[in-house]
Amino acid sequence: MTAASCGAVADAPVHRPRRIEQVIAGQPTSDGAGVKLTRVLTQNLQRRLDPFLMLDAFGSDRPGDYIAGFPDHPHRGFETVTYMIAGRMRHRDSAGHEGLLENGGVQWMTAGRGVIHSEMPEQEAGVMEGFQLWLNLPGRDKMQPPWYRDFRAADLPRYTSAAGVAVTVIAGTSGGVTGAVTRQAAAPLYLDLHFPDGGARFVQPLPADHNAFVYVYRGTAEVGGQPVPVQRMAILANEPQADGVVVETTGPARALLIAGRPLGEPIAQYGPFVMNTAAEIHQAVQDFHAGRLGR
Ligand code: CO
Repeated sequence: MTAASCGAVADAPVHRPRRIEQVIAGQPTSDGAGVKLTRVLTQNLQRRLDPFLMLDAFGSDRPGDYIAGFPDHPHRGFETVTYMIAGRMRHRDSAGHEGLLENGGVQWMTAGRGVIHSEMPEQEAGVMEGFQLWLNLPGRDKMQPPWYRDFRAADLPRYTSAAGVAVTVIAGTSGGVTGAVTRQAAAPLYLDLHFPDGGARFVQPLPADHNAFVYVYRGTAEVGGQPVPVQRMAILANEPQADGVVVETTGPARALLIAGRPLGEPIAQYGPFVMNTAAEIHQAVQDFHAGRLGR
């Protein structure tokens, strides 16, 4: 269903909105072959925000900040979700997939037992902006075959709420609209919220035990009545009686709302490998060096 076909959607009621537990500024860093980015969800928050392992925000109009891209590198044990706001990125992987991600498109990649891929900018000038989220897989799915889908902006489910918030449903369900991807174990919800010039209120029911956060990337917002400045992540408290989240603005703003069911498993990470145990990490490194990863 798209905005064109379903029109304005009334918000589902939320009686006890979640409060903010912590507001976090990301850490400036670089990754790949020197791409400058802000790591919003850092490794020390993986337990707190289980099933999410990482969120990077990249955005620059200086080609030197992004042009070298992410040449061939491996992944095992989780999924990457890349959401491109502006610019073009070419993806190629060892499973034979290739795609061009641009202007509002999403690439969802399940690394599973292993892929080697490259993510390279296909532009020499202009703004490059987007996000990459890492979603963990439960132990039983970590060694599944790789999977990959590209969604153009026009293919992503979206709707406009009665209050005028334009909602892109990348994963999960919102306003009766089912997202581009659904996952059973972690039940991820991934929404991009665009608030109108006059501001608006957005309401989303959430299971109390799901971990959730809001990242504001344009303007400012209030979450559960508490302010969140631009380029800040608000981690939402898990109060047992809370039934959702309320995001409110007085002007134009954009924010990601991301939530999921914690997997509750041990997290063993070594760079691009995320498994349950040190022995499984050791195996991943061995497989990579022996050329067995991505085969
Ligand atoms: Co990658």
